[in-house]
Amino acid sequence: MKEAMVNALNAQVNAEFYSSYFYLGMESYFQSLSLNGFAAWMRAQVQEEMFHGMKMYDYIHERGGKAVLEAIERPEQTWASPLACFEQVLAHEQKVTALINNLMDVAIENRDHAGKFFLDWFVGEQVEEESTVGAVVDKLRLIGDNSSALFLLDAELAKRIFTPPVK
Ligand code: FEO
Repeated sequence: MKEAMVNALNAQVNAEFYSSYFYLGMESYFQSLSLNGFAAWMRAQVQEEMFHGMKMYDYIHERGGKAVLEAIERPEQTWASPLACFEQVLAHEQKVTALINNLMDVAIENRDHAGKFFLDWFVGEQVEEESTVGAVVDKLRLIGDNSSALFLLDAELAKRIFTPPVK
């Protein structure tokens, strides 16, 4: 694998692990509010991001490269409201989509067809992530100050369980 590609993948490994930490900060916020369904949803998100990071980490080695671990930035851990928190999730996932697109550009520029094939999975995953999170943001906007509706959404989000996709 070309050095530019290894470096770009390594930067994304760090971004995925940062995402995991970012969502763990949110998990802690929701636990502190006793919104345990929101916290469970975030816990699954933490695991999913770890999975993304490890998928990329393993791929680097599979292609003969070396995964390099860098420091992970401290995430925010308090928000003004569940809506403010989820709006940040959406903004974060949009940022990750842009990072994946840039990574795909590196694969294309380097004519790395295997890399492009590998990254296709992440492109699809980002469509799903933005759609799922966008739906929660929409619901929280509709809920407004209605705490009964918020508790119903909490119960719905509690159902999410992370199951690692089969390769
Ligand atoms: Fe790893 Fe949420 O994208």
